Amino acid sequence: MKGIILAGGKGTRLYPMTQVVSKQLLNVYDKPLIYYPLSTLLLADIKDILIITTSTDVDNYKKLFGNGENLGIKMSYKVQDEPNGIAEAFVIGEDFIGDDNVCLILGDNVFYGGDFVNILQEAKNIKEGGIIFAYPVANPESFGVVEFDETGKAISIEEKPKIPKSKFAVPGLYFYDNEVINIAKNLKKSARGEYEITDVNLEYLRQGKLNVKQLSRGLAWLDTGTPESILKASEFVYTIQARQGQYISCIEEIAWRRGFIDNKKLIEIGNKLKMTDYGKYILSLVGE
Ligand code: G1P
Repeated sequence: MKGIILAGGKGTRLYPMTQVVSKQLLNVYDKPLIYYPLSTLLLADIKDILIITTSTDVDNYKKLFGNGENLGIKMSYKVQDEPNGIAEAFVIGEDFIGDDNVCLILGDNVFYGGDFVNILQEAKNIKEGGIIFAYPVANPESFGVVEFDETGKAISIEEKPKIPKSKFAVPGLYFYDNEVINIAKNLKKSARGEYEITDVNLEYLRQGKLNVKQLSRGLAWLDTGTPESILKASEFVYTIQARQGQYISCIEEIAWRRGFIDNKKLIEIGNKLKMTDYGKYILSLVGE
């Protein structure tokens, strides 16, 4: 299974913050936003990862992650300069995906919760079709919205409907078989001029190959689309970390716990960051 993080876009809703900095490099409390979706992929044991971003931002991501060896993973980069939509990721990433299945996560999606690892571990074993998720939100009209029949079967998905048919939004985390490349290549642009991820999901739904899993309310899926939602996400991360003394989305910790890197590497990284609580936390792990 390959992993793609889509970190493109101009982030216009966050201007002036994002005038010269990519949205996914802004901080959510103590770490760049992209650490959160990256940690989701790492928790699924996905170690071959492509970051898709703009030509202006790609060098910054390379500076941050290099070839991935610090995390015991392989990191590649591709550029999407035109705002052609999420589904274009599978066309841009075609060579990278090769014959594999693929997990796509949007670079601004933050997930946190107890049984999330089990959900990921199950989804990454997908054999055929697609697995997406549904999560109840107060403002479904801002998202892809999925409607279920009385038996819990998904029957429709609409992108940002004015009148949502349910409160279930589709988070920006998608698992697909290799067919997704063909599906993405055959899409038509939507009215807003984008290749929509919702249209990919609708195609799998038409084929009877879409599994929509409802996420429980115990799991947090946080929004980072506006200054206010970034602040709220930061407060959430701060509150949990301060209370538990355990970090959310510390990518080095996850890489170490999953055996991608050894103690020596973890200490090396921790030492470079030891002037911060983040670095001290990393160093404290080894002596656990
Ligand atoms: C995108 C998708 C939408 C999905 C959302 C999740 O919306 O188009 O279907 O629910 O991500 O974050 P956008 O972030 O482009 O507004």
